[in-house]
Amino acid sequence: MSRTRSSSSVSPLRVHARPARFPGNLIIEVTVNSKTFYIETFGCQMNAHDSEKVVGTLLTQGYTQVETPAAAELVLYNTCSIRDKAEQKVFHRLQQFKRDAGKGKIFGVLGCVAQQEGERIFEKAPHVSLVAGSASYTRLPEMLVQLEAGNGRVTGLSLDTDETFDTPFTRRDNPHRAYITIIEGCDKSCAYCVVPFTRGPERSRTSESVLAEARRLAESGYSEIQLLGQNVNSYRDPSATGWDFAQLLARVGEIPGIRRVRFTTSHPRDFVKEIIDAIDANPVLCNHVHLPVQSGSSSVLKAMERLYTRDEYMRRIEWMKQARRPIAITTDIIVGFPGETEKDFADTLNLLDQVEYDSLFSFKYSPRPNTAALAMDDHIPEEEKTRRIMIVQEKQRAIQIRKNSVLVGAVEEVLVEGRNQALGQWIGRTSQNRTLNFQHPETSESLLGTYLPVRVTRAGPNSLVGESLAVN
Ligand code: 5AD
Ligand code: SF4
Repeated sequence: MSRTRSSSSVSPLRVHARPARFPGNLIIEVTVNSKTFYIETFGCQMNAHDSEKVVGTLLTQGYTQVETPAAAELVLYNTCSIRDKAEQKVFHRLQQFKRDAGKGKIFGVLGCVAQQEGERIFEKAPHVSLVAGSASYTRLPEMLVQLEAGNGRVTGLSLDTDETFDTPFTRRDNPHRAYITIIEGCDKSCAYCVVPFTRGPERSRTSESVLAEARRLAESGYSEIQLLGQNVNSYRDPSATGWDFAQLLARVGEIPGIRRVRFTTSHPRDFVKEIIDAIDANPVLCNHVHLPVQSGSSSVLKAMERLYTRDEYMRRIEWMKQARRPIAITTDIIVGFPGETEKDFADTLNLLDQVEYDSLFSFKYSPRPNTAALAMDDHIPEEEKTRRIMIVQEKQRAIQIRKNSVLVGAVEEVLVEGRNQALGQWIGRTSQNRTLNFQHPETSESLLGTYLPVRVTRAGPNSLVGESLAVN
């Protein structure tokens, strides 16, 4: 942590592109003339985008960006509590900098751990002065005033809101792809999940404000839009049009200048065929759907309160398989949910064979506060969860090697997102959301953000390698 930069060397509104950062641990750093702040983000894209909005809010309140907690007067952690490990990270961070409290440094905990733990954080980490969940971010300017006035216990913990966190200015982290929140919160009650407790009830934004933001982004040079929500499929325009998600998606895809539209995340219960029809009708809508299944066993799905059976899920997979453009399908799997038998687990494995996902995220079930699963019997031992997750990952690796190798020889359009200097390769992303690293004689940054045809020459389990057609 010795890399320090004087706060005056970073101008307030400067946007840094950091395409190589891990999305799960995005670091955003900001500086101001008088007041400086630092923010580190954990968790999902919703959190990453919330941080972009928090940063925008702070900049408009006269704060500036610094690169390290050491250089900041205000240190913020935007936290995730989806699994216990994610939650522990923030307390580890707070412990690291504890001795700096009282030297004029103010610490704040934002996001899901803040909402979940509330005022208990002040007891666990007494040097923290601000605890605020995402449903309270509209009150940030007011909370900053209280902090500046020396209030050492500022909270924003109410979930009782029908507002969405729209900001006049968002400091975006990626110069080509922009996130747009279309719906906040979640009205489902999956038995394992903290999100309904940390992000509150569903609130959709008006289609008018979503489309206006997308147009502004297109005009300022963004070519890829990612629509965000805990469950984008349950989007419902609160204004008179009453559009559903498929209708909104189709409209975003028509905006001049937008070349790619993605969306995350979907819930199978609310995923309708019209979404596939919209993707089929317009190649701007990326041919990739992330549709978390969680388990291949209908009895586990029932215990999880997922509100669909395996057959109902498979019907949605069939829609995708019958689409005119091949749609990449990815998913999330939880192993070791309470009561998951060997037979249930075998059902998850045979679902993987049946669907042949292009990629997946797998998790060991982690008991979370407030959730229904906590009280369930028959918790699976940790070693058994580890055994199961390893089997899932091994099987999926073999599927991905097989599926990716079929792409050798194909030409894919990529958005150039970065450069790997060490390998002398450009990093591209296909519409199906595959990473395609490729050779191109150009070495200057001018290639970033462009779209190029690339021939796939090699395939690994997690990425492809190719050559730009422009050089052949
Ligand atoms: N334990 C393990 N994984 C979880 N997820 C959500 N809650 C838990 C939990 N308690 C996973 C789900 C979800 C993804 C974002 O995180 O698979 O889709
Ligand atoms: Fe983590 Fe869920 Fe909160 Fe995202 S919404 S930060 S995944 S707990």
